[in-house]
Amino acid sequence: MADTGGTARPGVTPAERIEALRALIRHHDYRYYVLDSPEISDAEYDALFRELQDLEAAHPELITPDSPTQRVGGEPLAAFRQVRHIEPMLSLANAKNEEELRAWYTRVAKLAGEAGAGPELLRFVLEPKIDGLAVSLRYEDGRLVVGATRGNGEVGEDVTANLRTISTVPLAMLAAAAPYPSVVEVRGEVYLPLAAFAQLNEQRVAAGEPTFANPRNAAAGSLRQLDPRVTASRPLSTWFYGIGYVEGRDFAAHHEVLEWLRRAGFRVNPDVRMAATVEEVIAGCREWEERRDRLDYDIDGVVVKLDDRRLQSALGAAGRDPRWAVAYKFAPTTAQTRLLKIHINVGRTGVLNPWAELEPVEVGGVTVERATLHNEEDIRRKDLREGDMVIVQRAGDVIPQIVAPLTELRTGAEKPFSMPSECPSCGTPVVRVAGEVAVRCPNPGCPAKRAEAIKHFVSKGAMDIDGVGEKLVERLLSLGLIRDAADLYRLEASQLADLERLGEKSAANIIAAIEASKKRPLARVIFALGIPHVGAENAELLARRFGSMQALREASMEEIAETPGIGPVIAESVRQYFRDPRNLDLLARLEEAGVTMAAPARADTGAAGAREGGGRGGAQGPLSGKTLVLTGTLPTLSRQQATDLIEAAGGRVTGSVSTKTDYVVVGEEAGSKLTRARELGISLLDEEGLRTLLRG
Ligand code: IVH
Repeated sequence: MADTGGTARPGVTPAERIEALRALIRHHDYRYYVLDSPEISDAEYDALFRELQDLEAAHPELITPDSPTQRVGGEPLAAFRQVRHIEPMLSLANAKNEEELRAWYTRVAKLAGEAGAGPELLRFVLEPKIDGLAVSLRYEDGRLVVGATRGNGEVGEDVTANLRTISTVPLAMLAAAAPYPSVVEVRGEVYLPLAAFAQLNEQRVAAGEPTFANPRNAAAGSLRQLDPRVTASRPLSTWFYGIGYVEGRDFAAHHEVLEWLRRAGFRVNPDVRMAATVEEVIAGCREWEERRDRLDYDIDGVVVKLDDRRLQSALGAAGRDPRWAVAYKFAPTTAQTRLLKIHINVGRTGVLNPWAELEPVEVGGVTVERATLHNEEDIRRKDLREGDMVIVQRAGDVIPQIVAPLTELRTGAEKPFSMPSECPSCGTPVVRVAGEVAVRCPNPGCPAKRAEAIKHFVSKGAMDIDGVGEKLVERLLSLGLIRDAADLYRLEASQLADLERLGEKSAANIIAAIEASKKRPLARVIFALGIPHVGAENAELLARRFGSMQALREASMEEIAETPGIGPVIAESVRQYFRDPRNLDLLARLEEAGVTMAAPARADTGAAGAREGGGRGGAQGPLSGKTLVLTGTLPTLSRQQATDLIEAAGGRVTGSVSTKTDYVVVGEEAGSKLTRARELGISLLDEEGLRTLLRG
């Protein structure tokens, strides 16, 4: 396997040993950087590299530019030289939707027919459209001669010194690709992996430098550096997807080009697929669109290419766009807009939450006017200022986020943000909780906190009081008709009917809804209290375990923390809640109003059972006798929480999918268990589906 022998080799000249070492290092670079599957240890690799360096130092006349030791070298340039591509770098026509894709296919099929091609030649290659920077690398007899950016398609900039610093750019092709073409232009995309992009921007904020708006700009900025050492410090990577001019070797099909590039040591996407019919083309495009969010690089579409190279030439180009290829473009999930103002919302637990008011902009078909900003640290890390042009991102149903400001567009009028030192609602100085990034308003009487607490109390997942929405809560508070949630139960229809735009009928309905909420189960009531860290699932676990509000109130921190799925932080938060006399007063008034304070008798036995048997297999419930498997990350439940809930409902959670499995609960990034479940035809659930089952 690895040849890592010493330097003194009888009968081997230094020139021969140098060549052998270079071939070995190239091979191991390829295994490590391109295939991500090294064959030797770092120490063994270092030994080879050092041996080569030592030999080259002793014989400088033997140093060649394609030696692995020569990736970073030379002085900064004054300017980039211009390079004329032998064959122009074309662009691609777009297909924005399935209809346009079908139209393109029909056109290609027609042209192919006219060119005399049989239907068997209508085969396509589907590749991800990498959102990076196109480059063309000229190799002569297998050695990198010059590397250039696309430029205007005819003439680009000579960035050879920079490209050489990228580990996945072969300085010389691997022997497996011989015989080498005498000349070939290898085409590909330079990009910055998403994690590296985030890290680079963080470093730049820390250094007070402007951030990059997106990974593509960062890749372009990194490659177009006059000092190659700067490029070398950026973890750029590449995907190669084709060739331009080629001399001295022939390829009949595009997929053969890709296979040859792979053998030559280029990084070619392993998930490139073939498709024979328009339906397969469309299915392949959808598959990439679905995978898009899970990749560690940005793609903005799928490139569909006719495979047969002779047919490609026959179809030719229309202007700059080849007729034989098309880019199926995904709906953009990012857009640029202006960050108008940073507002503060005081949450029910008193946390000050900043949010961004944006100039309305369409992102992926939805108009976005607000974005979450998490906390002060997040704003500072991204260096967001009021008035900035920003990149907004939407992924799936997630609340829109601000990715980064476009610092190069700043005028100087932008206002840096700092968190207020006083609560914007009541003026109380805010406090920073040790170990948390958030700041809170400590005033228990803070009107904003009260309002949020009541809004939470009436909300769908909590007491679900129909007709009492955010607006009505605000009105009732401002009129002094309520001060907390318990006051809702003292409202009278006549008080509501007097309110503007609320007739007698609606007033009566609201009173009925408030009345009905008294019957909500204990878990809902616990959740409705808004105890910090106690979400709907934790409330469910606590209700099952303790069976009544009184038992929960009297439980010690240790007893609470013993509940499966409940950690010490939650336990402490619960204890703290019940220590506050104001909360005890609220609870007393809720109880007096007739709100549920204990689980019904049947659930009581369930709770006792859960306490003794830990719920494992013993509990009776909607999932009694059922076996479930969890795979992937669920949107809100941790694996432990999901397991606890399933077990509390009488179900069993196992680690692998078999014919005995009743359901597989599937989250993001689900792996082989999902494949197996599909093979066996087992029912799949998402988190929502699981909740439906849990509710029985
Ligand atoms: S092929 C004839 N394949 O998209 C084809 N391009 O709009 C010309 N790109 O400048 C390009 N991924 O920067 C091709 N798999 C891929 C690609 C790809 C990204 C970029 C490339 C090009 C632009 C064309």
